[in-house]
Order: sequence, then C-alpha cells, then structure tokens
Amino acid sequence: MKAILEKLANPGFDLEQVRSDFAYLEQDRPIIYLDNAATTQRPNQVIERMAHYYRYENGNPLRGAHCLGAAATEAMLASRIKVAQFIGSKSEREIIFTRNASESLNLIAYAWGLNNLQAGDQILITHMEHHSNFVNWQFVAQKTGAELSFIELTDDYQLDMQDYRNKISERTKIVAFTAASNVLGTMPDAAAIIRIAKEYNALTVVDAAQFVPHVKINVRELDCDFLAFSGHKMLGPMGIGVLYGKAKILEDMTPFLYGGEMIEYVEDYESTFAQLPYKFEAGTQNVGGMVGLAAAIEYLEDIGLEKIAAYETALADYCLAKLEELPYIEIYHPKQGARGPAIAFNVKDAHPHDVATILDYHGVAIRAGHHCTQPLHRYLGLNSTNRASLAFYNTKEEIDLFIEALKDVKDVMQIDI
Ligand code: ALA
Repeated sequence: MKAILEKLANPGFDLEQVRSDFAYLEQDRPIIYLDNAATTQRPNQVIERMAHYYRYENGNPLRGAHCLGAAATEAMLASRIKVAQFIGSKSEREIIFTRNASESLNLIAYAWGLNNLQAGDQILITHMEHHSNFVNWQFVAQKTGAELSFIELTDDYQLDMQDYRNKISERTKIVAFTAASNVLGTMPDAAAIIRIAKEYNALTVVDAAQFVPHVKINVRELDCDFLAFSGHKMLGPMGIGVLYGKAKILEDMTPFLYGGEMIEYVEDYESTFAQLPYKFEAGTQNVGGMVGLAAAIEYLEDIGLEKIAAYETALADYCLAKLEELPYIEIYHPKQGARGPAIAFNVKDAHPHDVATILDYHGVAIRAGHHCTQPLHRYLGLNSTNRASLAFYNTKEEIDLFIEALKDVKDVMQIDI
C-alpha cells in the first residue's frame, strides 16, 4: 500500500493541470466520473481543435478544388498520419477511419469473413468479448457454415492459454480477442496469442478499444493482422473509430461500403475501387472527428502513456484494496497478470441498478448492467454487475468518496453483512 500511496501522491504528471483541462469538473454539482470504459471525457484541447476545424478548415475532403476542400483534405491526412504513428503502423494507408470499434470489427467480418470462410473452418474467440467482437462472428458463422468456438477463462478471470492451445488447429482461420476486457479489466498476453495463431496461419483480430487509452501499443511489434479501437474511449469524439489492417490483407479484400470517393472508375455495370485506405471509406468522412482524435492522441502523448499506465494501475490497485475491505462487495477482476482499470463488482443482495442509482445521488457515475457482454455474464453465472472504470484524471480522493458512497448503499439497502 505504501508504494501505491506514493505513486498516487506523485503521479509523474501535473494532475491538477490535467483536471483543469476537463470542463465537466467545473460544474456546480461535483461529478466523480468512474464510467470511462463507456466513454471518456474530453479535454478542452480536443473540443477546441474540433471547433477550430469547423470554424476555419471545413470543406468536403478529397473533393473541393478550393482552399477549404484542401484544408479538410490536409486535416484528414495529418490525422491519419498521427494515428499511424501512435499505433506504430508502417504506413497511413493501413489506417481506415470508421465510426467506432464496432464498425471496424464489422468491416472485417463482412469484407474478410464472409468471403474467406466456409464450412469446416473455425473462428476462435473468447468468452469475454464485447458484443462487437462476438455477434459479428456469430453472423459470419451462420452465413458461411464456419464453426464458432470459445476460449475458456480461468478462475482468476484470465484467458486459459492451455485451452487456447487445445482448441486452435489447422482449421482455425481467425482468432479474434479483446486486448483488455471492458468488464473484467483482464489484459491477456496478446503477443503470445498472436504468436500461437501464426503457427496455424490464422489471422488475428485485436479489439483494442479498452487497451489503447491505457497502454502504449505497437502493431508492428505485436504483428497482429487487424486492430480496432474507438475515438470516444480515448478522449476523442464519438463517431470516429479506427481499423488498422496489414496493407497486403486490406488490398486483397473487397470493399465493405460502396459509394462516393471509394471508387476508381464506375461503368454502368461494374466499378473498380480506390487505393487504400479510401477503398474502405465510402461517402463524406467525419473529418471533425479525425482532428479531434488526433488532438486526443497528442494530449495522451504529451502526458506519456507510460506515466498514465503507472498512475492508473496504482489508482486501480488502491480502489481494489478499498473494495476488498467491504465484506458485502464481490469483485470480478484478476488478481494476477496485466489488468486495466475496469473493475466489475456486485453489492451482495442489491441489484446493480439500485447501486448505480444510489451512487449517482452521491455524484458518483458508474455503469450497471451487462456492459454489452451478455455471454460473459452468463458464463460467470451473473445476471448483471456494476463497473467502476477509471482514467488518469481520477484521484485517490474520488475513490475514497466512491467507497464512502458504497457504505451508504449498504445502509439504504439495509444489507445485513
Ligand atoms: N462498450 C462500452 C462499455 O463497455 C459501451 O461500457
């Protein structure tokens, strides 16, 4: 605990300055925002960058011959380069802008899965996937006849690597997994999963929506084939997401959506398609979202993801230690291994929605429900859970207030433990 408290007292960045960048903290009614896995807050720098774009640079990218069309095109390109550098991609051609991680994962399912899988093939996913990396594969399995299989979890909410080795085979064509569970916080050993998939020539799909805001990622080192994430979970705006794919694989894929600017030539009965990445970006794109995402990346990089990760780990460890002191709390979070700052729990004998409502009365915002993971909840034998998910702009004092509010839940719900 001493080391945790020391880290929280010395985060390695100016926490007060950071908190002054977030306008939601200026409101009359204090909000303790612990729902960062659902969506993070945005610093003023992101909001101002987007406002500047819409005020002074707004035109339709890739189309206008005029200066504003050119400004929008430049903003789009600069944002794409920023994203490519952020995740360590070889080229901005490998960065496809989408609406969110869900759309990125659907793109792979539609444009790769439907065209490359058939009966006899296997799609391997895990029991802790978000619906976005689950229902899309159910759909592909139903359409193609491929078999959908699941890697088990251990009692400590980790991915069971032995079960993975037992299930993967020459039949496995795709291994799709989350790099950080949005419920359990589990961060499986993505590098090991990918290494094993390569032994069987299976493609790898990484859902990194809950990973990229917390830990530095490098797609070249990881050597994944696809990686998806959302802007709004990493300080960026809603409505912008990213699909990274290896250029060779993307080049061989058919488009997902058809329409403006994704074509090369359009004849009456057939068309040819644009080069990467434009082949996958039909219609007018969300340049405001792209510049906001680039500003969010700059903000994270200015603080430093290593510093963010170290501070968030200490904050989550502190929160866990405090939760463990309450005998009426059940925690669903790994005790070992890498884990992100999302902590699922239940208050014994209280419905998660009652818990979240009472906490809201205290100004504490958490999520209650199944968190878009019904299969995971069923697997764990739970109907629903509460989830506190932390970010680097949260503080130890906020965690203390959250814990105090949980004590009030016990009193209000007359829990006799
Ligand atoms: N995927 C988001 C969450 O986990 C909405 O809350």
